[in-house]
Amino acid sequence: MANVRVAALDDIPVGTNRAFEVGGRSILIARTSHGVFAVDNQCSHALQPLEGGKMKAVHIFCPLHGVRFDLRDGSPTGNTTRMKIRTWPVSIEGDQIMLGIDLP
Ligand code: FES
Repeated sequence: MANVRVAALDDIPVGTNRAFEVGGRSILIARTSHGVFAVDNQCSHALQPLEGGKMKAVHIFCPLHGVRFDLRDGSPTGNTTRMKIRTWPVSIEGDQIMLGIDLP
C-alpha cells in the first residue's frame, strides 16, 4: 500500500469535504472536528458522488437522497442501502494529508 500526499490541511477547512483523483479512483477527503477521513467518493445507493454532502460529527449525508454514512467505517444508517462505502487510511504528516491506498 502506498502512502500518497493528497492535499494540505489548509486546502480543506474543518467541516468541508473535497474529492481528489488518486490512482484512478475518486477519493473524498472529509475534514471534521473529529479528524480527517477518506472514503470512496461514491454513494453505495445510486452511485452518486458524495462530494459536497453535509457532515455532522463523523458522518456524511449523501447529497442526493440523504443516506448517512459513518466516515470511520463506511457503514450506512437506515434501509435505503445496506452497503458500506469503502474507507481508506489517512495520516497527517506536518500539514499534509496522506492517504494509504493501493495504486494500480
Ligand atoms: S444516491 Fe446516495 S442516497 Fe441515493
